Amino acid sequence: MSTFTVNGKPHKFDGDPETPLLWYLRDVAALTGTKFGCGQALCGACTIHVDGAALRSCQTRVGDVEGAAIVTIEGLSPDGNHPVQVAWRELNVAQCGYCQTGQIMQAAALLKDTPKPTDADIDGAMSGNICRCGAYPRIRAAIKRAAGRA
Ligand code: FES
Ligand code: FES
Repeated sequence: MSTFTVNGKPHKFDGDPETPLLWYLRDVAALTGTKFGCGQALCGACTIHVDGAALRSCQTRVGDVEGAAIVTIEGLSPDGNHPVQVAWRELNVAQCGYCQTGQIMQAAALLKDTPKPTDADIDGAMSGNICRCGAYPRIRAAIKRAAGRA
């Protein structure tokens, strides 16, 4: 039995502790905002927060998050107005949108720890989040716009 919280609500899972957390979130908890991309911690589409840190849920086992506080894109803000989400909308960052959950969660974690990131900080934090549409210039601009508001 694994117990943890997701978006502030208590969750229990008595299945295989080896189950990827991404599977639990999407298939058991029906939180489908977190996306499956590569399944190998190579793309960042599945990024969530675990105890405030950005983590790839495809390579995290449910058994690894005992007692943890998990936040998904659905819980990042009660009304979709986290400063990163606002900046994303203002600059029309998304193209196809598939990578965007992971980008936003990664960016929110960056700004929590580094409220005024340099270009190098942004490159370092975001380099593992792949965008097949090449929205990188808008992603960088939106992070800079959100900086100081987050
Ligand atoms: S699906 Fe997890 S990093 Fe690609
Ligand atoms: S917006 Fe299409 S993959 Fe990033």
